[in-house]
Amino acid sequence: MLLTTALRVMLTRSLKPFIFEGKYDNILDFDNLEDLGLYVHIPFCRSLCSFCPYCKEAYDRERAVAYKAALLKEIDLVCAGLPANKEATSLYFGGGTPALMIDDLKDIIGRLKQYFTITEGVGVELHPLDITPLNLQKLRSAGVNMVSLGIQSFNGDCLKKIGRNEETFEERIHLASTQGFEVVDVDLIFAIPGQTSEILQCDLETAISSGATQVSTYPFIDFTFAYNRYKPMGEKVKKLMLQELVKFAASMGLERTSVWTFAKPGSSKYSSVTRDSFLGFGVSATTLLKDIFKINTFSIDGYFERINANCLPTSLTLRFSPRQRAAYYLFWSAYAMKIDPDKFEGIIGKPLREMYGAELYWGGKLGFINRRGGIYVLSSRAANIYHHVEQVYTTAYIDKMWKISKNIAFPDRIILW
Ligand SMILES: C[S@@+](CC[C@H](N)C(=O)[O-])C[C@H]1O[C@@H](n2cnc3c(N)ncnc32)[C@H](O)[C@@H]1O
Ligand code: SF4
Repeated sequence: MLLTTALRVMLTRSLKPFIFEGKYDNILDFDNLEDLGLYVHIPFCRSLCSFCPYCKEAYDRERAVAYKAALLKEIDLVCAGLPANKEATSLYFGGGTPALMIDDLKDIIGRLKQYFTITEGVGVELHPLDITPLNLQKLRSAGVNMVSLGIQSFNGDCLKKIGRNEETFEERIHLASTQGFEVVDVDLIFAIPGQTSEILQCDLETAISSGATQVSTYPFIDFTFAYNRYKPMGEKVKKLMLQELVKFAASMGLERTSVWTFAKPGSSKYSSVTRDSFLGFGVSATTLLKDIFKINTFSIDGYFERINANCLPTSLTLRFSPRQRAAYYLFWSAYAMKIDPDKFEGIIGKPLREMYGAELYWGGKLGFINRRGGIYVLSSRAANIYHHVEQVYTTAYIDKMWKISKNIAFPDRIILW
């Protein structure tokens, strides 16, 4: 809590915590939305993995049918006030396991396209078992051009420790890479007990040689509500593994596109979090508008109840102060390792230098940021620190919010220090 509090106070210049309130607006303010992303959450899985913190339950066809109807209605409720043909850069389906509703994705995409012109593409997260010729063909014909494959590791022992079975994932990745998708992302987890840097580097190499255009490598996090039999290795090991991976990725000619992602040069990116604003649909989905951040209920029954009453399923809303909004923007820009002062000013309404002159000065002096072509770029030293900070925030903020939200459909208030 010390680190989150210190950083929050420094960036927001205030002692005020982030306060999420149970009160919500039924009509959203869509003024001045730039770089708008769309996200749809599908909360069903074949079985529930021990390590996974996301909002999901075991698949049931009847629930999924009702969920699709509610999702379409939520889209209509949210978008009723939008100007026609609003531009959205991207649409991502995450979960859970979106492919369990593969025959419904076309209708959901179609409904969103009644309100939005999607300029850059549609992405879907896939479990390895979803990567079949028929599914890939269905995704292509629904207009999906990006996939993210949850491989986690190619190493049998690592997979066993997180409760997954070993398979020949290489063939599945190759299959996805030959179906015309612009982006094939592979998710890996590192710092699984017993995993060495060599195993992780071999995983990265195997993902790329099998056809991935991007690899996302997440440090294993032990959420307090997960039931991990094997706990992640310690922070020192995580840091060292990441540092060695960064060097290895550079030797393979890959670009580091964020603190935890590496991509083939010139390839498009699979990235749903680094947007200036986004609208989220479905349980647990989040929405970021100009000065509000809101979260939908994690309860599928609570979601149905609200939608049936023609109300938005928002469970918590945070109204940002201008400084809090600026800190949020900086946090996610730093994850992408780039801070664009023009974009900052467009969203926050004040020059970056005016609000964070001292941080920019000392960041430059200490070798954390360099100015290149008008953009502030984070150095690898800064990225190493960020890697730690992001995990601390995940434990202090996300773990807390999600744990409460899993137990209470509509909490009164949550305070994050
Ligand atoms: C929504 S999840 C899963 C996507 C897909 N359903 C699957 O099972 O492959 C997205 C990604 O988050 C990462 N992830 C999930 N739990 C994690 C944890 N405890 N620590 C680190 N990364 C995690 C995994 O790499 C995963 O692929
Ligand atoms: S990792 Fe994927 S399949 Fe496993 S519970 Fe999480 S979302 Fe479901």
